[in-house]
Amino acid sequence: MNISMYNREFVCFFVVELTFVIVLAYVCLTSHQTVNHKTRIHKQARSNHSVKEENVSPEELRRETGQSCVFPVHSPSLVPCQQNNLREKRRILKEALPWLDLETTLNASKTLLPGGYHQPLGCASPQRLAIIIPYRDREVNLKILLNNLHRVLQKQQAEYAIFVVEQDNSTPFNRGVIKNIGYLEAKARCHFDCFTFQDVDLVPESERNTYWCGARALHHSRELDILKYRIFYKNHFGGVITFNETFFSAINGYSNLFFMWGGEDDDLFHRLLKKEMPYEFSRYPRYTALTHKKDPHHTKEERAVYGKSHLRFKNDGLNSMGRLYRLISVDYKPLYTRIYVSVNQTEVLTQLKHYGIRL
Ligand code: BGC
Repeated sequence: MNISMYNREFVCFFVVELTFVIVLAYVCLTSHQTVNHKTRIHKQARSNHSVKEENVSPEELRRETGQSCVFPVHSPSLVPCQQNNLREKRRILKEALPWLDLETTLNASKTLLPGGYHQPLGCASPQRLAIIIPYRDREVNLKILLNNLHRVLQKQQAEYAIFVVEQDNSTPFNRGVIKNIGYLEAKARCHFDCFTFQDVDLVPESERNTYWCGARALHHSRELDILKYRIFYKNHFGGVITFNETFFSAINGYSNLFFMWGGEDDDLFHRLLKKEMPYEFSRYPRYTALTHKKDPHHTKEERAVYGKSHLRFKNDGLNSMGRLYRLISVDYKPLYTRIYVSVNQTEVLTQLKHYGIRL
């Protein structure tokens, strides 16, 4: 009897000890992985001002840490973030500061991580946002936009990453392709609930203009200061727009066939109509437009061709990106992730030719 009691106690003691050791080992292992991931990305950002994907690819980082996201996302707190004291009208900062000053001031609270990733401390943001900025040769605009946008999003306690998708100079600018690339490359790096396509020259005037998404497409930039806050035209759907993933893939993203300035956003609006997808307008639609040299408009012939492009939307968009671009590099810079790409113009022209169109 005594012996069996002794055995029982021994077994109990052994089971408790074993559980304790297993839990301890698990905690050590996971915290080591997170710290390692953070230290590595921070160390490299310090030494280099950017993390070159040639050295450490996000896939490597992910493999090492077992995380599904390249950004060091911490477990969300259970307390939802409060959006307090958001001003309806804020003062726009219009000075283009040197990069280092910008990086220092915008990261004063140390919540911004390489790649322009931000997660509020101590509370859970409702959604994770990818902000995609199509870009080429507009450094002054980019600095001003980032200086304002980071402040607004942080005031809103948003969890977000900013992707600047830059097309190299070898082919004419193609905003549709660039926006689709932004969507695909952001998605490949982390799970995002919402995708905002943000023009580099439009600065939000209200802190209440949030970039969270619901089931509808959301057009933010309805009213611009340069037009005395009148709308461009009824069906204008360009500038700043937010979608969720299901929505954006249902319309097959943007058309890839628009070169030069304008049109791809009008085409996208027709895609929404064609698929009978719902859309809405922001309640805080005011933006300040920054000045820059304007690209030439399309010719009359080009407009006639492009006018019908939404009829081709099933095969022109996210599902026809295959050979359309080459990723040159990905840099996790202090204020944004730079996705540098080359667009294959020959392939775009081949796709146009497939539809019987020669430009
Ligand atoms: C272009 C659009 C652009 C709008 C406002 C239109 O003519 O087709 O792409 O968003 O002007 O600039």
